Amino acid sequence: MDTIVSTAKYLKGEISVPGDKSISHRSVMIGAISDGVTEISGFLKASDPLSTISCFQSLGIEHKFENEKLYIYGKGLNGLKHSSTVLDAGNSGTTIRLMSGILAGQKFSTRISGDQYLVKRPMKRIIDPLVKMGAKISSTDKFTAPLTIQSVESLNAIDYELPIASAQVKSAVLFAGLYASGTTRVIEHEPSRDHTERMLNLKPEKENGKTIISISAGIKLDARQFVVPSDPSSAAFFIVAGLIVPNSEIKIINVGMNPTRIGFLSVFKQLGANIIVENERIIGGEPLADIIVKSSSLKSNCVLNGDIIPNIIDEIPILSIAAANAVGKFEIRDAQDLRNKETDRIAAICFNLRKMGLVVDEYKDGFAFESKKDLISSEFNSFDDHRIAMAFGIAALALRGDSKILNSECVSISFPKFWESVNTLQR
Ligand code: S3P
Repeated sequence: MDTIVSTAKYLKGEISVPGDKSISHRSVMIGAISDGVTEISGFLKASDPLSTISCFQSLGIEHKFENEKLYIYGKGLNGLKHSSTVLDAGNSGTTIRLMSGILAGQKFSTRISGDQYLVKRPMKRIIDPLVKMGAKISSTDKFTAPLTIQSVESLNAIDYELPIASAQVKSAVLFAGLYASGTTRVIEHEPSRDHTERMLNLKPEKENGKTIISISAGIKLDARQFVVPSDPSSAAFFIVAGLIVPNSEIKIINVGMNPTRIGFLSVFKQLGANIIVENERIIGGEPLADIIVKSSSLKSNCVLNGDIIPNIIDEIPILSIAAANAVGKFEIRDAQDLRNKETDRIAAICFNLRKMGLVVDEYKDGFAFESKKDLISSEFNSFDDHRIAMAFGIAALALRGDSKILNSECVSISFPKFWESVNTLQR
């Protein structure tokens, strides 16, 4: 499917965006290995978290959706069963990488793979620490999926310094730590999203600028209720829409405000965005707020690099749209891992920004451009990547004339009703 997006006169109204993708995945995973029935409200019913559910279904975990809630019938740390079929993680890096941590400690073997994009993404980052813990994992000779994770009697605890800032690697090691004898410690130099730690009630310690997260084998997980806030990464698309379309005012309610996820708000402030955060509260261990955004004259001239990159990694596509509509220069560096996402996002962003008429310098670890007036509408390639489709869908609202987003159905990975939400705000 392709979607035509026309210039918006204004955007007005109140919306809520769907549940947080990272927290939705983790609520199913933790629910499956807890004892009892986990009740999840606000679960993101989109392709990626549904892939996690279907993988656990193959491992003998039942679930039901009832009255807007998801129930996971957990079987405890050692209750998963061998699957005779290959687990299908679909397009979801979080599913394959985090689940590998759980599967590494099982007394049965599992094969797990995914779609044509997932099988190209790097898995060495999780294979290395898990093998150090005694896991037996084989992959292709390029260290990509399909992964075969052999049965083991037990794993051994390790101290692991994360060589890259990655919440997926950190979480895979922590999950494996539940099956390892002793105390596993993950040492993080640059902060990455901390949902796994929060949801497992782990208490990180700070030491010489590093964060150390410890987990002990066999802690008993009792089924709980999880409340999933709205995904700040999805809210970011509508924040930028409100900023760049003239005469707009949008309120986005119940947005997750976990500090490891909202670095993009400080970047918007730097650009001079008119954003009000109100009604801040904590629900289910995660901070939430409502966000009001009004059209703003943005100024950029900023270089984003270093420690902030892991915090804004999923928002770089939409941040670059805000910057394209600002006056000044914009540069992203130290973001080489963007090339390993659902698509090579550095290449995809540069390709589409050039189609808008910008001159863009592409680097191994980022890109740079100077904004200019009279950007042009165009045919944008989503590269089948949900965040690229949504970012350029929002850009199109502020371009003169009609634009086309190719293969726009890929938004179903994280935000199935995205195009409907765009239309609602124009009515
Ligand atoms: C995620 C972590 C990030 C992020 C991804 C979701 C998670 O990936 O890009 O969308 O839920 O842990 P990395 O950990 O590889 O940076």
